[in-house]
Amino acid sequence: MEHTIEVNKIFAKDVVNALNQTPKQLPSMYFYNAEGDRLFQKIMALDEYYLTRAEMEIVKSHRAEILKSFLGGDANFRLVELGAGDGTKTKVLLEHFVNEGTDFVYSPIDISQSVLNQLEEGVLKAVPNLKIDCIQGDYFKALSELNSNHLQKEVLLFLGSTIGNFGLEAGKNFLKELSNNLSSGDMLFIGFDLMKDPRVVLAAYDDREGVTRDFNLNLLKRINDELDADFDVDKFQHYPTYNPITGETKSYLVSREAQQVHFKAIDYTLELKQWEAIHTEVSQKYSFQMIEEFAQYAGFKIVRHFTDSKELFVDSLWEKV
Ligand code: AVI
Repeated sequence: MEHTIEVNKIFAKDVVNALNQTPKQLPSMYFYNAEGDRLFQKIMALDEYYLTRAEMEIVKSHRAEILKSFLGGDANFRLVELGAGDGTKTKVLLEHFVNEGTDFVYSPIDISQSVLNQLEEGVLKAVPNLKIDCIQGDYFKALSELNSNHLQKEVLLFLGSTIGNFGLEAGKNFLKELSNNLSSGDMLFIGFDLMKDPRVVLAAYDDREGVTRDFNLNLLKRINDELDADFDVDKFQHYPTYNPITGETKSYLVSREAQQVHFKAIDYTLELKQWEAIHTEVSQKYSFQMIEEFAQYAGFKIVRHFTDSKELFVDSLWEKV
């Protein structure tokens, strides 16, 4: 029997727009369907993927100092988290803050109510006495609403080097917009992956088991499922690169042969030449100097950098000027 697919028009438009660019692209935010989330969990546990372990070390070893810095001279704060994921690193901080008797409310923001429900359940299991107030919606809308009835200091958490997936220019603009939705004295605690041995960076995106390859290829499978397309993933090669001058890690899917791909649900045909690449992701790496320039551009001053013992990663605490 013919089956018809209900097309998400925004997804279809974003995918086609990106594929119509020169060079061709796909939006990395669409990695994260259920299978993409599962693969990303696997990536975070890989030997080569140092980022998650390094940031975990930071929050574990510096939790007391982090709390002191969040409080500054204030008695309380609202801890607002953007893109909490499964909240593993955040739980370490929340547990410590509650154990210390800190007066704070935890407000994760996410576009998806089901993500928030899951997060709330998981976090409350680990930290039962936590005051939690989830906010469903778009980051900037939610932040501007919070800011308009601003009663206490806000501390924003943006962990995991997610900022790196925006690339340099869009990342700077995103931080400026965050800053526009904060008041003087509010804080941002943000994760950046640092520039390091280029081979260490590259291996994190080209693991031996091929989990990152599957994560990248899953984008094509998702398009197959949601737009009734006929990508044959075996005809694509996962190809990550790292540029040690700019700090950009870029991932591509390279077409092994000349081919046509049909997207039946929207009547679109993609033509690929042999060895033509589709750019799927940027994971920017930073120097301390770049981070300092970012902070200044977005209207923040740096309070303190918290790093792991090998200086692979930094969680940087900024205060809105
Ligand atoms: C979510 N983000 C910070 C990850 C990164 O390292 O850029 C996504 C990822 N892509 C490939 N591996 C992990």
